Amino acid sequence: MVELNFKKKICVFISGNGSNLKSLYKFSQSKKSNYKILLVVSNKAKAKGLLFTSQKKIKSFVIEKDKEIFETKSLKLLKKEKIDILCLAGFMRILSPTFIKKLKIPIINIHPSLLPKFKGLNTHQRAIDNNEKYSGCTVHYVTEKLDSGKTISQKKIRILKKDTAKSLAKKILKLEHKLLPETLNKICKIN
Ligand code: GRF
Repeated sequence: MVELNFKKKICVFISGNGSNLKSLYKFSQSKKSNYKILLVVSNKAKAKGLLFTSQKKIKSFVIEKDKEIFETKSLKLLKKEKIDILCLAGFMRILSPTFIKKLKIPIINIHPSLLPKFKGLNTHQRAIDNNEKYSGCTVHYVTEKLDSGKTISQKKIRILKKDTAKSLAKKILKLEHKLLPETLNKICKIN
């Protein structure tokens, strides 16, 4: 179909459940989508997200190797498929500065906190322990410095007294499923 040619070509990196991948894919099937998911790469063979990619027949690769091999193989795939934007969705590996430099396209990530607060892991427990009134999620550009690239969009919620890390994670994951596709779609429109 002609209009498909104007859609931006996306690759998604995953490591686990792939719930963000599912919401990205669902959105991509709607008329308002400016992007199509051409490729999924996982650094974990057991990633549940791979069950989804096989169901939906999305081209996917598992590269469960050390960082250098993972990055070299991924770079080749991204170039071959002429990917326009790389989206990290539940991807639990830190990409090297070399990879980021060599990859000339934008990389975006969804992080489960209101950056710049709580970079890194265990964000929900840290927000609760710090008596934060709010938490949420952030879509940001990926740069050499972990979770420090320019913020593109955020969604926030109140942290309730009764909240635990588990209950907060559940609520924020729902926000991620809305924020990531909407934000990616906006970026695809501008570029
Ligand atoms: C979740 O903790 C989410 O907050 C973060 O990555 C984890 C798994 O996401 N972005 P997914 O279900 O694999 O997309």
